Amino acid sequence: MKHASMLVVTLFISSLATSYAQAKVELLEKALSYDDVLLVPQRSSVQSRRLVSTDTHLTRNITLSIPLVSANMDTVTESAMAIAMAQRGGIGIIHRFNSIEEQVKEVEKVKRYRSEIIKNPLSISADYTVEQARDVMKQYNIGGLLVADTNNKLIGILTSRDLRFRPPSDQCISELMTVREQLIVGKVGISIKDAKELLMKHRIEKLPTVQNDWTIAGLITGKDIYNKAEYPYAAVDRRDRLLVGAAIGVKEDSIERARALVEAGTDVLVVDIAHGDSDLAINTVKRVKKEFPSVDIIAGNVATAEGTRNLIEAGADGIKVGVGPGSICTTREVTGSGFPQFSAVINCACEADKYNVPIIADGGIRYSGDITKAIAAGASTVMLGNLLAGTEESPGIPFIKGGKKYKVVRGMASFGANLSRKETDNKAGYVPEGVEALKPYKGSVNETIAQLLGGFYSGMSYCGVHSLERLRGNGLFVEITHSGIRESHSHDVQQLVQ
Ligand code: XMP
Repeated sequence: MKHASMLVVTLFISSLATSYAQAKVELLEKALSYDDVLLVPQRSSVQSRRLVSTDTHLTRNITLSIPLVSANMDTVTESAMAIAMAQRGGIGIIHRFNSIEEQVKEVEKVKRYRSEIIKNPLSISADYTVEQARDVMKQYNIGGLLVADTNNKLIGILTSRDLRFRPPSDQCISELMTVREQLIVGKVGISIKDAKELLMKHRIEKLPTVQNDWTIAGLITGKDIYNKAEYPYAAVDRRDRLLVGAAIGVKEDSIERARALVEAGTDVLVVDIAHGDSDLAINTVKRVKKEFPSVDIIAGNVATAEGTRNLIEAGADGIKVGVGPGSICTTREVTGSGFPQFSAVINCACEADKYNVPIIADGGIRYSGDITKAIAAGASTVMLGNLLAGTEESPGIPFIKGGKKYKVVRGMASFGANLSRKETDNKAGYVPEGVEALKPYKGSVNETIAQLLGGFYSGMSYCGVHSLERLRGNGLFVEITHSGIRESHSHDVQQLVQ
């Protein structure tokens, strides 16, 4: 292992057969966690946070405008979280603890959420009932559907407004939809500017685009135009659709899962297992890269330079770093293995930099200041679980306990997560490496993201840099003592709000 200084300790242990055997034990130099260090303040010429750039790389080929990635955990990232993250310029990784079909649907919801022109808008036939139409709208989380004949010619539009007065669920939608003769439509190829004018002039929300014979060509919505103005830094693909990632494992179905996810438009695949420096992970990365050479792959989790190199040489375009630092992890307790996260990020980033591959610091981020530390240590992005759990956009329904509102966060290797899995693991012999916990309900994740980014901007200013790229891997750190750690957190006061 490549390290600045390394102690080689020789232990003498007694073997069962009375003679002494010599074993070689290596004790690496002390490794540190985020709390053990502080960034030394530097002279700053930053005048305003608006002049600071947080552009960064998620992988070799994917850029983001903020360094935040939501964790592929079933209490953190499904489509709602992924949409919120990408709108702000980050990205969400849809978890894999569901069926292939369920995961694909979540990806599709993100990819359909916004686009300049929806190229293949969903349509239903005129003989659908109210109930069937509602199901489709609910499934894809959309407020309107085009109605088409069997030749894909537009015959009407049904919107949630048509269903507002709760018509009977078995009523045919042809009696409720706005028929083609009364519709405002755009000609195929209409410019966004002209479409916007039509939407505003007629005070409508949806503008189908059609060919001369009424064949559906696309759909332009007011929501998309509004979204673009509201979120100018959104992370988008070439078709202006939000970026989204999806996790796969290393089991038999991983290639089948990857294929379905790629077909659904997934921008990046995350080959994710707890011990990423393993033959299973390395071989899966090789296979996935061979099958889908044009899709970027993030692989992990690792905590050493060797692990980083092994995954990069197998084909990874981004490396997820972190063994055991997560809020809900018990891997270190259960297995005795792990690596303090701050040092792991430095070691892995030094190695990955040689290949121009970005690092994602995954787990253990408790404060916005930890984001600054992780980036200054060499990471390009951070993955967040606990900090985003308990928000409106995290999966699951809030519940009341003792008069307070909560959601649940759980480790993906916790007993509860294993119990809910559909695969036939040996549940009786299962050894959990994670826990389940209550999370006070926090409202919209936008507020959390704003707080984290505000802290990060300020952190960059303390480091005297105008851009994330200048900060990345350039931190001047000081190691602190226990008294320093105590001094760093609020102390000797009774806090009003815990
Ligand atoms: P935070 O601290 O942001 O960490 O909540 C999220 C990361 O924790 C990892 N993770 C686990 N690690 N057992 C573990 O040892 C688990 O059950 C578990 N579940 C999630 C994962 O890397 C995630 O992104």
